[in-house]
Amino acid sequence: MAPPELRYDGQTVVVTGAGGGLGREYAIFFGARGANVVVNDLGGSFKGEGKGSQAADKVVDEIRSKGGKAVANYDSVTDGENIIKTAIDNFGRIDVLINNAGILRDISFKNMKQQDWDLIMAVHVKGAYKCARAAWPYFRKQKYGRLISTASAAGLFGSFGQTNYSAAKLALVGFTETLAKEGFKYNILCNVIAPIAASRMTETVMPPDVLENLKPEWIVPLVAVLTHKSSTETGAIYECGGGHMAKLRWERAKGALLRTDDSLTPGAIALKWNEVNNFKEAEHPQGPGNAMELLETAAQLPPSQTGEKLDFKDK
Ligand code: NAI
Repeated sequence: MAPPELRYDGQTVVVTGAGGGLGREYAIFFGARGANVVVNDLGGSFKGEGKGSQAADKVVDEIRSKGGKAVANYDSVTDGENIIKTAIDNFGRIDVLINNAGILRDISFKNMKQQDWDLIMAVHVKGAYKCARAAWPYFRKQKYGRLISTASAAGLFGSFGQTNYSAAKLALVGFTETLAKEGFKYNILCNVIAPIAASRMTETVMPPDVLENLKPEWIVPLVAVLTHKSSTETGAIYECGGGHMAKLRWERAKGALLRTDDSLTPGAIALKWNEVNNFKEAEHPQGPGNAMELLETAAQLPPSQTGEKLDFKDK
């Protein structure tokens, strides 16, 4: 049986940073599947310098030439309210927001300038916030919304020369996980993707033969599934690239539980260090551990060995 063709007729999809790279692929896809598309792009360099209307205009022309409906917006995502206004003014609604716009300012932490940090935070974190904040009242009112934000492997795992970018990208994971909780009863589903794909952003750091196998259009189907009305997935993180896609989740070691009295010392923890770090009986939590429940048990444990033998000086 042929897989179903997902459609978005009558819906309005806002894609930020849609003048090139991944954003362009999303915009063209949604335009071809019946959606009204707002093609936002500031039109600057990958380092966040300059601006222009050409990038967004070209994508709008491409969507329209194939019979789709699209309008351009040239604001920075840091002025997200203008981008959402473009959707409302032109199409009267917003159903899907894809926070995709991004830039890089790679530099070792030692040499990082304040501006390298501030600009990355502004575009990725403030930009995602401003767009989502402006869309949220519409999502809530219509009891429908689909929000994708774009993280990165750099944020999940760290990456040399990218402290600014990593911090910003992981911020979007926390942002998404909280919005998923706040949006759930309004049928607002929020997920985050960590893509890997050939674009002007990656072409300076990866060789051509690798990039050949990382086509940006291969990210689109996952985003399409997550933003479709049939989806129920929310608060999730997906890695996606080169045809592979996989969900990521948090893992918590069973850990050590120590009696909660003055035998709970650094030395006592040192003696239990293997237990603290052992993932053999791990769980996959959706929230913080139940500290109150554990507290009762902890209070009843025998006093801990305090680890003097490890030559800890504190006790
Ligand atoms: P890209 O550079 O081709 O596209 C990003 C687009 O965002 C550009 O068209 C740019 O003009 C636009 N943009 C930049 N600042 C903007 C602003 N302030 N307001 C509005 N538009 C702005 O890069 P690519 O690869 O398509 O990246 C898309 C997203 O995916 C970014 O958030 C990036 O950080 C993320 N990402 C990409 C990876 C990859 O392998 N390509 C890896 C991990 C994350």
